[in-house]
Amino acid sequence: MNHQLYKQTKHHQHEKYKANIILSQGHVLKDFKVGKGVLRPEKMTSIWLARYLFFNNRVFADKVVLDLGCGTGIQGVVMALYGAKKVLFSDKSEVGFKNTKENVKKFGVLGISEFFCGDLLEKISKDSDVGLIVFNHPFFSDPDENAPESMLGPGELVHRFFEEAKERFPSTPIVMPYYHKAGPINDPAEQAPKHGYNVTERLRLDVRTGLQRGPVSIYEIRLA
Ligand SMILES: C[S@@+](CC[C@H](N)C(=O)[O-])C[C@H]1O[C@@H](n2cnc3c(N)ncnc32)[C@H](O)[C@@H]1O
Repeated sequence: MNHQLYKQTKHHQHEKYKANIILSQGHVLKDFKVGKGVLRPEKMTSIWLARYLFFNNRVFADKVVLDLGCGTGIQGVVMALYGAKKVLFSDKSEVGFKNTKENVKKFGVLGISEFFCGDLLEKISKDSDVGLIVFNHPFFSDPDENAPESMLGPGELVHRFFEEAKERFPSTPIVMPYYHKAGPINDPAEQAPKHGYNVTERLRLDVRTGLQRGPVSIYEIRLA
């Protein structure tokens, strides 16, 4: 296992806890719940994606949005709190899925939330009028049986995702982040064009804190 993945894996073997998610000065998701072993959003690229969404709420305002691979639910909760019409939360992991529900209730956005447990887009109806897909996908591809499921993405996952998205929601924009130390295999800028998508880098950061330090991108992806 590479060093970065080893470091992350160790940090994800945690009990449930609460974290303050600082979106900006004065905008904090206080006591956000992180379930046992669920990806820690405040220490990962998740926090930068959440901040990107917070500062760019025009991309989801008044839309039905899909938080795919929702984990703790951080991305969807931010969108629900700051302008989305409705949020569909979906994850294949039962643990992440339960964690999302806890945070949705805690932050008072249950009324505009729906939950799905399944692989990628399989549970999301073509008729659900999804106006934006946000997918903080697994970046690392190292197959290791001790690594948490939330972090591992076999190279084929992004390809399956782009094919399903193209087939089911061809006119829906997609927002995805990427941590470049994970290499090119799951990088949307490298992989999405192979499926006919245009990729625009909306934000590039050199992250100096947390567990994923180094270059991070936030991409907007649309069918060409
Ligand atoms: C990097 S985590 C992101 C979690 C959360 N959205 C965030 O921003 O912190 C990736 C998530 O994708 C989920 N996931 C992995 N493979 C999946 C699949 N095939 N279908 C749906 N969700 C999947 C994992 O369970 C995990 O919750």
